[in-house]
Amino acid sequence: MPEQGEKTTGFNTRAVHAGQEFEPRTGAVVPPLHFSSTYAQDGIGGLRSGYEYGRGGNPTRDALQEQLAALEGGSHAYSFSSGLAAEDALIRALCSPGDRIVLGNDAYGGTYRLISRVLAPWGIANQPVDMSDLDGVRAAVAEGGARLVWVETPSNPMMKITDIAALAELAHDAGALLVVDNTFASPYLQNPLALGADVVVHSTTKYIGGHSDVVGGAVVVNDGELAEKIGFVQFAVGAVSGPMDAFLTTRGLKTLGVRMERHSDNAQKIAEWLVGRPGVEQVLYPGLPEHPGHELAAKQMRRFGGMVSVQFVGGEAAARTVAESTRLFTLAESLGGIESLMNYPSEMTHASVKGTELAVPVNLLRLSVGIEDVDDLIADLDAAISRL
Ligand SMILES: Cc1ncc(COP(=O)(O)O)c(C=O)c1O
Repeated sequence: MPEQGEKTTGFNTRAVHAGQEFEPRTGAVVPPLHFSSTYAQDGIGGLRSGYEYGRGGNPTRDALQEQLAALEGGSHAYSFSSGLAAEDALIRALCSPGDRIVLGNDAYGGTYRLISRVLAPWGIANQPVDMSDLDGVRAAVAEGGARLVWVETPSNPMMKITDIAALAELAHDAGALLVVDNTFASPYLQNPLALGADVVVHSTTKYIGGHSDVVGGAVVVNDGELAEKIGFVQFAVGAVSGPMDAFLTTRGLKTLGVRMERHSDNAQKIAEWLVGRPGVEQVLYPGLPEHPGHELAAKQMRRFGGMVSVQFVGGEAAARTVAESTRLFTLAESLGGIESLMNYPSEMTHASVKGTELAVPVNLLRLSVGIEDVDDLIADLDAAISRL
């Protein structure tokens, strides 16, 4: 099999095979899960295949890391116990006290909370900016001390699209690194490293796991020096994914391409159906030609994905009514699973940024469109919206 990150075959072939060699003793086609926390040594320091202790290395986690690197086009991937654990490790590995993170003003609320409330007291400053305004970002980065530029595209939940290649150039000109949170797109729809980004971060809890049954995160890079720093923090701090979590994530990742096609089909149809419906003020979906980021998304993404945000004329009351009236769309946090979910960001996923400049409009619902039959999903939304 190819080395970690080597891109020799199509996406779906890599998804199924990278890191998944059959087990040599029995021929088991699915590699066995390794739960062992420690490994026998053939004499002191005589390690078999480098395995010594579970925090430092585990074959099931390594298999997932190889698969992730192969799908993001990176040289190295590191898997963590959650998306935020991955973000924390990457910031601690790459930033020092006095550094500044320039991040999108519609970043995931938990990312903002991590940076502003956990890391700021340790000397990491942050500056939220509108990432779609490249001149504004350039000015913010030029102020000095900017170590990371941090962007989500599509963003959560405003579905803004940012030009990754332009942002990478701008960050590099100022001596900063570009981090892309690729959770919404997934590696099937978008590969930021190929567009010039330095680091990709994922909440693998979402599309990568894909079945709402495992929490995890990942960092992927294409540079040996960055890899060494992040790998060291993974080992030294230890927020690694456990073997069962790594296995579930690998199993989900094998079908990512098939799922993303279906998520994208369903979301496109739902977005088009929502446009112009009585009670609907605005539909935010990059697959709609009127979306301001449509052309850019078409250029840097394979398709437009499964996330749709919608704003209602009737404000907060209307959004709450719809959120609490659907039957197939389950009212729940998170996204990216095969089942459709409905989220009211202002009070749920983004409650932590309420009252800040990252606050989400109160008339907005975020839909994570699943892989069910789209006619059933539309009927569900129709019944809920007709209550307005
Ligand atoms: C875009 C984005 N990034 C990061 C995270 C954090 O990931 P986790 O919840 O796995 O810690 C989330 C979680 O919702 C997210 O939506």
